[in-house]
Amino acid sequence: MSDTPTNYKGPQRVLSGMQPTGRLHLGNYLGALKNWVELQKDASRECFYCVVDMHAITMPHDPATLPDAVRSAAAAYIAAGVDPEKSAIFAQSAVPAHAEMAWILNCVARLGWLERMTQFKDKAGKDKERASVGLFTYPVLQAADILVYKATQVPVGEDQKQHLELCRDIAARFNRDFGKGEAVFPLTEPLIQGPGARIMSLRDGTSKMSKSDVSDNSRINLEDDADMIARKIKKAKTDPEPLPATVEELEGRAEASNLVGIYAALSGQTKADVLAEFGGQGFGAFKPALADVAVQYLAPISDEYRRLISDKAEIDRMLTKGAERARAVAQPVVDETKKTVGFWG
Ligand code: TRP
Repeated sequence: MSDTPTNYKGPQRVLSGMQPTGRLHLGNYLGALKNWVELQKDASRECFYCVVDMHAITMPHDPATLPDAVRSAAAAYIAAGVDPEKSAIFAQSAVPAHAEMAWILNCVARLGWLERMTQFKDKAGKDKERASVGLFTYPVLQAADILVYKATQVPVGEDQKQHLELCRDIAARFNRDFGKGEAVFPLTEPLIQGPGARIMSLRDGTSKMSKSDVSDNSRINLEDDADMIARKIKKAKTDPEPLPATVEELEGRAEASNLVGIYAALSGQTKADVLAEFGGQGFGAFKPALADVAVQYLAPISDEYRRLISDKAEIDRMLTKGAERARAVAQPVVDETKKTVGFWG
């Protein structure tokens, strides 16, 4: 068996995606979208940001609401600052090359690799015999999303690290088996947001802020207005102690640590900076300050989101344009890949 070639020479490209599972929230913004916006500033890298509706059907879903969920996610991307002129924003299912690529990569990935994926175990739950086969091969479709653009960088949250490693394994295996000494696919680098950007539930500092949490008070949605944001922060769970002066002393105080982390991320400071200002003060003083920062930062985003979502035709035009751009890059890659594996035509 020949060695794995590592001489990838293609252009730098960025790809990422989110599921269209209802409303996006502060955790999505600080953990991902903010970084997507930063990445598009460098014009030397083309950016592709998709809404992964093909991944969404790996779990039971409602066909009637899926298209609006896609629009809603796309609107949130734009409201957060992703520029549809600079970056391609599109629905995954509008670019058939993802599915074609996924089939080929399904035949490159090994069963044993997929059996180690922890997200499948979490999502499938106890009765994994009843999980869809799509849920099992979900990470291969994710690798296809990435490799069909030969994306070199993928900004994701910490929880996607394992899927990105799998993507590299698949790319390396393909290069070794079919590359004839050339690295056809890049070994994609994950851009993982730091632990500071891991935003937890406002009701429980040990679980991630999530759109599936039954309590709406657990999260700040990108569409919440100023009053709602302030109310949720006021209600956020805390402990009775005042804020400490050092980051080390936040250890074991999950809720306090989370609120300080949110303040830091929103205001572009470190947790230490925030504690230098608020150490010794109680939550009665800190929460209104946090609410101010959150409202100041998020109000323009939520205003823009509400404006966009009220004009479906505009979002659809933008998604159509984004899909055309994406297809122009993805189709030649999948055509080349089909030829490489010996497909007819
Ligand atoms: N699995 C990712 C998540 O749950 C979403 C996703 C699908 C993705 N395809 C992708 C992320 C490609 C980055 C690149 O967050």
